[in-house]
Amino acid sequence: MAKILLTRRFPKIGIDVLVNRHNLVVTGDSNLSYEQLYNIIDQYDGIISMLSNKLDEKMLEKAKKLKIISNYAVGYDNIDLAYCKKHNITVTNTPGVLTAATADLTWALILSTARRVIEGDKFVRQGKFKGWEPLLLLGKEVNGSNIGIIGFGRIGQAVAKRAKGFSMNIFYYQRKPNLEAEKLYGAKFLPLDELLSTSDFISMNTPLNSQSYHLLNKVSIQKIKKGAIVINTGRGAVIDELELSNALAKGQLSAGLDVYEYEPKVQKELTNMDNVVLLPHLGSSTVETRNNMAKISAEAIMDYFDGKTPKYTIS
Ligand code: DGY
Repeated sequence: MAKILLTRRFPKIGIDVLVNRHNLVVTGDSNLSYEQLYNIIDQYDGIISMLSNKLDEKMLEKAKKLKIISNYAVGYDNIDLAYCKKHNITVTNTPGVLTAATADLTWALILSTARRVIEGDKFVRQGKFKGWEPLLLLGKEVNGSNIGIIGFGRIGQAVAKRAKGFSMNIFYYQRKPNLEAEKLYGAKFLPLDELLSTSDFISMNTPLNSQSYHLLNKVSIQKIKKGAIVINTGRGAVIDELELSNALAKGQLSAGLDVYEYEPKVQKELTNMDNVVLLPHLGSSTVETRNNMAKISAEAIMDYFDGKTPKYTIS
């Protein structure tokens, strides 16, 4: 029996996979702080981590017994992968099962920002609705407009698939063009600056790494077409949030954000703006998806200690 830490209670289906096979410790219903995790990590052979658990060199050096990190997320920017490779710690994630849910939420943000859904809801609740008006809360047309998808992996492509239904012109940017995906979705690769100046909607679907950190920054934000809408359901730090917030305050852009640079902190200024819709990192948050993620991450631990290579091994 291995000693496994689940750093936050997650769907029962995942707990059931492990509970009678390993010594599973579930720390509870709130996030473990860095210090709390640091103080206990050396006791465990395996860990199911949340994306909020920073598993950096200092933390991993303490985790002398650790053999596997099963990250309850598709993104793994919270883990020092180089350290894990060097010290033979297996790292797994949960790709695939959250693609549709995250693409759907991207679209929820596109539509609610473009069509001012949150403002409209507030307007009605505040008793301001006095009847149909020709100029009331005019939004931005989605149908037939240009969407620029930054990061054309699974989730980016699923966003494109939905964009086809809105007859959009689909552009994308990533390190290398993907000709097969271009054909599938009728998408066109554009250099970043051209994508920014052409797109009415910009969807950030790139993983966070050294190349994508602050991809939207002081300089590149100024290249974005005036009036465009920036959507981020990836990782907050792909955008310099302060610069985005300055551009939003000037009314240059609108935005729909599910993730934040200093999560869970959200800049106060953003919360006072009507041209941004803010969500609390809900990309994969459907019952079905979170169940699937729990099952996959628990099975990765099972497989590892049964001597098999877990299905979604990253390193
Ligand atoms: C992920 O899996 O990386 C998502 O951000 C979780 O919702």
